[in-house]
Amino acid sequence: MNYLYLDTVTSTNDYAKRNIDLISDKTVVYTSNQTKGRGRFNRLWVDLGQENLFISIVLKPSLNFNNSYSCLTQYTGLKLAQTFVEYGVTPNIKWPNDILINGKKISGILAETVYKDRVLKGIIVGVGINLNANEEDFAKIDKAVTSLNIETNSEIDKNTFLKSFINIFSEDYDAFLQKGFLFIKDDYEKYINFIGKEISITNINDKFTGTAEKITDDGAIVISGKKFYTGDIL
Ligand code: BTN
Repeated sequence: MNYLYLDTVTSTNDYAKRNIDLISDKTVVYTSNQTKGRGRFNRLWVDLGQENLFISIVLKPSLNFNNSYSCLTQYTGLKLAQTFVEYGVTPNIKWPNDILINGKKISGILAETVYKDRVLKGIIVGVGINLNANEEDFAKIDKAVTSLNIETNSEIDKNTFLKSFINIFSEDYDAFLQKGFLFIKDDYEKYINFIGKEISITNINDKFTGTAEKITDDGAIVISGKKFYTGDIL
């Protein structure tokens, strides 16, 4: 992996998009000062201060682009969860890729594709991680959120976390690209805790409620017999 540190930026995903031609495959663009971070479904991603991480991993699929790429967010979610485990906490993955600890969100992923003249230029996997925050900072956010320092009762070194996450991400990346979601399915399922429960999923304007039945071999979720590849679980 290559690293590209930015002092301050509106959004690492936007920066990576704008500069996609200049950034090589497997580059980690990161900052601790992000002024206009974006979340999924056009939400904001709030900057909780200097000791947090905002990352965009730039990946450039070769011509034999395959299905694995559509499960990159699940892959990234799993690798984040495994990184959190090293800190002694117990993360859960809220399908497809939010990471929760004790039911509170600690990390989110926004993956975006960049096309120019119908040619795929790259995939940007944006990751926001709450490493160090004060409870009062969460007043800015209208959801249950937490940070690693609060969960572990100790300050987190952001560079150590970044290295550890990127190592864990890199370890299985090539094998995952070759083998697809099935390669990580068993590990991914260890972090899922809503199978058998009633959940609601939204996709832009639609909402569907039912029993979460399973994760399929291609990374989708089945809710009361209906298969979803994208969506937001409420
Ligand atoms: C979500 O949970 O909705 C996804 C949040 C993704 C936030 C990260 S922070 C780094 C990267 N740059 C952005 O503007 N967004 C992603």
